[in-house]
Amino acid sequence: MKILSLLYRKEAEYASGYTPVFDMQKIDPLYNETFKGLRAKVEHKIDMLELKSLAVTSAVAGEGKTLTAINLAVNMANTGRKRVLLMDLDLRKPSIAGMMDIAAGPGLSEYLSGAVSKDEIIQKSTFPGLFIIPAGKTLSSPADLLAGEKLRSLLRDIRVCFDLVITDTPPVLPVPDALTLSEQLDAFIMLFRLMHTPHQLFRKAMEELGERKIMGVVLNGEEKKTEKYYSRYYGKYYTSIHSEGNDR
Ligand SMILES: Nc1ncnc2c1ncn2[C@@H]1O[C@H](COP(=O)(O)OP(=O)(O)OP(=O)(O)O)[C@@H](O)[C@H]1O
Ligand SMILES: [Mg+2]
Repeated sequence: MKILSLLYRKEAEYASGYTPVFDMQKIDPLYNETFKGLRAKVEHKIDMLELKSLAVTSAVAGEGKTLTAINLAVNMANTGRKRVLLMDLDLRKPSIAGMMDIAAGPGLSEYLSGAVSKDEIIQKSTFPGLFIIPAGKTLSSPADLLAGEKLRSLLRDIRVCFDLVITDTPPVLPVPDALTLSEQLDAFIMLFRLMHTPHQLFRKAMEELGERKIMGVVLNGEEKKTEKYYSRYYGKYYTSIHSEGNDR
């Protein structure tokens, strides 16, 4: 298993616990550089393996999935090489629309319930080449809808119109959604928030999802932690944060 990236972000930037609208100008330049590195590694893999849909998930809630999915999608679109669709598949806790400052609906929920068509839920973003499908109405139990034929056919259709679909996906352990989605999406990026998630839960989530589907792990942590710490803490999952690799 490859560690794709190590995101450092100053704790102070999160002090309020409130996540504001995504603003490229306000992002710490070093944090942004890390994302360019992650984008390059991910792009290399998806091009080589001809992958078209990529889910960002984690073992439990609050590990940085939404922030990572957004940053990755924006950086991928900014190269101008790919038409990217960012899709909020976290129907229980939608946050892409708020962070990207677009209309919250109609979105995927309305499409899956048959109320609107595909074309009505795809919105333009302020970034050229980046389009968004918001979650729409919050659903408390979306697993059956996510397993249904409507989402499958939507995913099939959008593969034709976009070069890459990046999805913000619910966490693996508390709800069945990510596992339900796993066969419909080409690969997963697994977030692991340092000093937040017990590593047993991380390993359990990796096992449930199956390593075959996991493109790599992104460690999300604070600035002050050392590489030695990661190596000791993550055991066999640690290879090198700088290594390139072809395995998924
Ligand atoms: N490295 C970090 N250090 C401190 N806070 C962080 C870090 N990464 C993310 N956060 C904060 O943690 C919260 C969760 O981030 P985010 O919404 O991206 O995670 P998530 O995995 O999508 O959460 P959820 O499972 O609730 O959807 C946000 O308030 C975010 O600002
Ligand atoms: Mg989220």
